Amino acid sequence: MRREKVVLVTGAGGEMGHGLIGHLASQGTQVVAIDVREVDAGLRRSCRDAFVGDICDAGLLERINAQYEIDAVYHLAALLSTRGEFAPETAHHVNVGGTLNLLRLAAEQAGSHGRTVLFMFPSSIAAYGMPTLDAKRGNRTVTEDQFTHAHTMYGVNKVAGEELGRYYQDHYRKLAKDRMSRPVDFRSIRFPGIISSDTVPAGGTSDYGPEMIHVVAQGRPYECFVRPDTRIPFMTMPEAIQALVGLAAAPKDRLSRTVYNVSSFSPTAADFERMVRREFPDAQVTFVPDLGRQAIVDSWPEECDDSAARHDWGWSPTYTFETAFGRYLMPKVRARYGR
Ligand code: SER
Repeated sequence: MRREKVVLVTGAGGEMGHGLIGHLASQGTQVVAIDVREVDAGLRRSCRDAFVGDICDAGLLERINAQYEIDAVYHLAALLSTRGEFAPETAHHVNVGGTLNLLRLAAEQAGSHGRTVLFMFPSSIAAYGMPTLDAKRGNRTVTEDQFTHAHTMYGVNKVAGEELGRYYQDHYRKLAKDRMSRPVDFRSIRFPGIISSDTVPAGGTSDYGPEMIHVVAQGRPYECFVRPDTRIPFMTMPEAIQALVGLAAAPKDRLSRTVYNVSSFSPTAADFERMVRREFPDAQVTFVPDLGRQAIVDSWPEECDDSAARHDWGWSPTYTFETAFGRYLMPKVRARYGR
């Protein structure tokens, strides 16, 4: 019996999963979803199949391996940077152990159907670790190869995932006689903070941006957990999905690296406040920095150099900070909360 050809998406029920699966389904792709929780009914309708389970569960991955022929994996599941600092070993288990399991599944699939399996891995701004706030301010824009000594377990795990992917692509089972060359075509993007009009993030440290928008739009006061002058890059969810599918579609011989920065805009927390006040003049925003979370955001760069992504696969952002609010966020957020 032939196995059905599918694309596997882990962390399917998360923020990025929602956007990505909608896009893949609209292209006619057969998606098999995995998430630790049952995915919502709307998302389920866009999937060929959906499994509730843990990416660390070898039995679950074995069942999927037996049932489906996987052409591509979008490995989105992860425990984010704030949550990870409360349980670093669990974060490592899920973030690195889970990634290893998925890479191994992809390599096994490649071995059994004889074709390279595309492996898309969202990495993060958290992969960076600016040693001090002065270093952050003195090195405004960083390239992919600078300052990659991350301060969070999540960031360390993302760097490990990037390296594991490169290993599976170029060196996996180097000494084995029956080794397949390039079982996995590994491609990764270091995403900035992401803002969605449809979902609110959980467990991240860039959450203050999207939280401020969604909380204020509901008419509730928002206590921002970083200083007003805090600056890191952000982008909208549609831009993040556009980046993922853009990199996935690029011819391999155009790619000079396995890991790419993408960038869109870099507002301060005060810029977020100014924008939400402009949209909702009765907004109640206060700044009460949480020193721990502040230190994490202070270790992330102000801007990322995305010239390699622009050159190799034609990345270009859709929005500025202003147009992200005016053309994407506000129409949908207002409709959602009726304000
Ligand atoms: N948004 C993520 C976080 O804050 C970064 O990838 O953890």
